[in-house]
Amino acid sequence: MVKVARARPAAPIVLLLALVLMASCTSSSPYDPAVVSRGQAVFAANCATCHGVGGEGQANWHIEKDDGTLPPPPLNGDGHTWHHGDGLLYRVVSMGGQEFEDPRFSSFKSAMPAFGDRLSHDEIVAVLTYLKSLWGDKTSRGISIVESQARASEDDPFPPDGG
Ligand code: HEC
Repeated sequence: MVKVARARPAAPIVLLLALVLMASCTSSSPYDPAVVSRGQAVFAANCATCHGVGGEGQANWHIEKDDGTLPPPPLNGDGHTWHHGDGLLYRVVSMGGQEFEDPRFSSFKSAMPAFGDRLSHDEIVAVLTYLKSLWGDKTSRGISIVESQARASEDDPFPPDGG
């Protein structure tokens, strides 16, 4: 009897917490759900074979292979994708990873293909928006990676369509 009496008041609190959680989940996503779901489809069709179904990347992604290339990195917020502003991320998807190559300093060769002739401007923006939507509230040294990336994008935004 005592146990039942004690358990009862918890139910409304759990319900309240669930409601608060649901409300914050639906209202806090800064991304347009239509863009995110389009980006998810673009990702599944073009990127998942290399970067993993959930964007988790491949093992040892930061260790250069014998041929001078890197394995595909995670794009789900576990790697360092968030260091780059929207403009750079767009260029990497559109023109491939040649932007990361610098023969003056290393023998690194990019294995990231160019998608500019296969994906439209809006599809590239959508796939990158989808990837950012996976980052949630992940932090690096206590700072939100979504916020850091947004700051990096202020000086380097997505190019305009046709740009
Ligand atoms: C053939 C394998 C392959 C495919 C397919 C591929 N990538 Fe990559 N991607 C890579 C590799 C390898 C890198 C690591 C950097 C490099 O080699 O230039 C990379 C790097 C990236 C980066 C930079 C990540 C960072 O943390 O700096 C982004 C963003 C990216 N890819 C997005 C995509 C998207 C979006 C698609 C699909 C439209 C895609 N990739 C398809 C292999 C691939």
